[in-house]
Amino acid sequence: MSKIGVIGIGYVGLTTALGFASRGNLVTCIDIDIERIDKLKLGISPIVESGLDELLRSCSLAHSITFQSFFDETIGELDFIILCVPTPQNQDGTADMSSIRSAIHSLSPFLHKQTIIITKSTVPVGSTKIIEELLPPGSMGVVSNPEFLREGSAIHDFLHPDRIVIGSDDRDSAARVAELYCDFQSPIVLTDPATAETIKYVANAFLATKLSFVNAIAALSEAVGANIEHLTTAVGLDKRIGADFLQPGPGWGGSCFPKDTAALIKIAERHGYDFSFLKSVIQINEEQFTRVFNKVAGLLSGSLKSKKIAVWGLTFKAETDDIRDSPALKIVRLLLNSGAHISAFDPTVRSTLKNFEEVDVSSSPIAACEKADLLLVTTEWKTFSEQIPNSIGKQMALRNVVDSRNILDPPKWKQAGFIYRGIGR
Ligand code: UGA
Repeated sequence: MSKIGVIGIGYVGLTTALGFASRGNLVTCIDIDIERIDKLKLGISPIVESGLDELLRSCSLAHSITFQSFFDETIGELDFIILCVPTPQNQDGTADMSSIRSAIHSLSPFLHKQTIIITKSTVPVGSTKIIEELLPPGSMGVVSNPEFLREGSAIHDFLHPDRIVIGSDDRDSAARVAELYCDFQSPIVLTDPATAETIKYVANAFLATKLSFVNAIAALSEAVGANIEHLTTAVGLDKRIGADFLQPGPGWGGSCFPKDTAALIKIAERHGYDFSFLKSVIQINEEQFTRVFNKVAGLLSGSLKSKKIAVWGLTFKAETDDIRDSPALKIVRLLLNSGAHISAFDPTVRSTLKNFEEVDVSSSPIAACEKADLLLVTTEWKTFSEQIPNSIGKQMALRNVVDSRNILDPPKWKQAGFIYRGIGR
């Protein structure tokens, strides 16, 4: 059993804390957001995540997890401190390290010399060294241990990772961190800090590349009359390519891919490499938002002024309440700018969104469609594919549907009189 402190209780922090607490460790969670900590003490999670509420309840009952909003002498009793604070994107695409600096500043007065600092926040290459320099003299080496969990399946991904990456120049520190994961059945890659930090960016950049590629192929499929589903099934069966992450959509988004691809371009630039390849990956993604918009405009014969569009889905993907950098909102913004009225439904968005006050947030998929000229599906929530086309059509002024996630059954919707447009199908 280890005593672990987790600093920054967002997606990665809370999942990490609960993951380690459920594996027999004692975990102290620290976040400067007092309201968040107070809610967590009451068992209320700040995020929607499968299996998280149950784990929060069981770990709290077992006293294997505690929450606090301050740094105090208990820090000195910890074996490990895991940094999970946010590193948002600066205006110029670089990562903002101010929360990391602030966390180090706050914990340093209480730090025991044997405590190992682990970074899980996605930090620019070279940050581990910078953090070491910020720590009091004589502190243990800092270990980079990036996280690869996905929102929506965060707990599962944490407990069953494809690999564990441990980056350290200090063999003892690396061995102690590897020990933390001794009952995880996953391969461990031991490396230096700069490589560990780069692995995280490269993994996200590669996944984003795969998605931009498949969205570009969907556009090509439409042009040549190919079927994207048959195509990705066949191509994905090649073990060298793999079937995962080949689902075309409205473009990729979320709190990680846009930020990490931009940051990797900046990191490369700072080291004298023009990552034009990755710039194209981002550009293709931007084009995808416009391509979906054009599909809507195409079905409504050009002008969207005063047209009513029902939008199903606002989050950046299903099974989350996260709207950060959501492709759905990028497309909604393009529609609003063209004068369209939007009524939207999302299972986890129940009130008006900041900067999107003109969007009517409906209470059900069917209510969103009332008098709509077109239905646009932007997030792959299962409930959307279960709707009955004819019941939806009865609510609408016109039977048009743009399915940017390819989750609806085209024959069913066409049978109900809809003009259907998907992505590459
Ligand atoms: C991503 C990575 O998948 C995680 O491995 C990583 O740990 C995380 O970022 C992070 O850096 O913290 P996440 O942002 O939660 O995880 O979401 P993904 O499931 O990767 O989806 C990203 C975007 O790609 C979403 O907009 C999603 O809708 C889109 N997507 C994904 C597709 O359009 N098609 C697919 O086949 C898969």
